[in-house]
Amino acid sequence: MTREEKQKALDALNAKWEKKDLPLKSVATNAVPGEGNPDAEVLFIGEAPGKNEDLQGRPFVGAAGKFLDELIGLIGLKREDVFIANIIKHRPPGNRDPLPPEVEAYTPWLAEQIRIIDPKLIVALGRYAMEYLLGPGLSITNVHGQPKRRDGRVIMPVYHPAAALYRNDWKPILAADFKKIPKILQLIDEEGMGGDEARGVETPAAEQQRALL
Ligand code: URA
Repeated sequence: MTREEKQKALDALNAKWEKKDLPLKSVATNAVPGEGNPDAEVLFIGEAPGKNEDLQGRPFVGAAGKFLDELIGLIGLKREDVFIANIIKHRPPGNRDPLPPEVEAYTPWLAEQIRIIDPKLIVALGRYAMEYLLGPGLSITNVHGQPKRRDGRVIMPVYHPAAALYRNDWKPILAADFKKIPKILQLIDEEGMGGDEARGVETPAAEQQRALL
């Protein structure tokens, strides 16, 4: 698909999902489907909109968003170059954690976004995105910054930028993980996406413990 076709497909997708009776729709001001370059190489996936995002209908526009913009800047990119989305598209009341049935209700929307954008790399911001993309049972403390292959996609979990705002010691860790992104993209180009024989990016069988890049 061309960039224009992807944008059209995303617009149609959002229009379809915004009509649906989703669990948090009645308590939210706006849906926050996500935004950015529909043809992005890198897709960032956060957890759920907060207060500012709910008011503006845009992802990561509060304090965590400012920090995310800085992190994206570290690799020479701008917010408009990448795509930014969330697991949950309506703000949970009081910013509470999403409930399992909410994750279940909203993630088919995200899955369709991923299929349309077809990014080279997905960066999972925090535990909820990591669990959706890589399954349960992983500890973000152990696996942050390690790209993993799942179903032909490369996924790198990192700490959530909002969490790092409260944990000064996590900020340099997040920055170091972001700085790996150009190298990971290069490895994906060199190795192709399909094969289990890929060297630099972990396959499910070998992934659990080995340190990567
Ligand atoms: N935190 C998220 O996970 N997503 C946003 O859009 C904003 C803050």
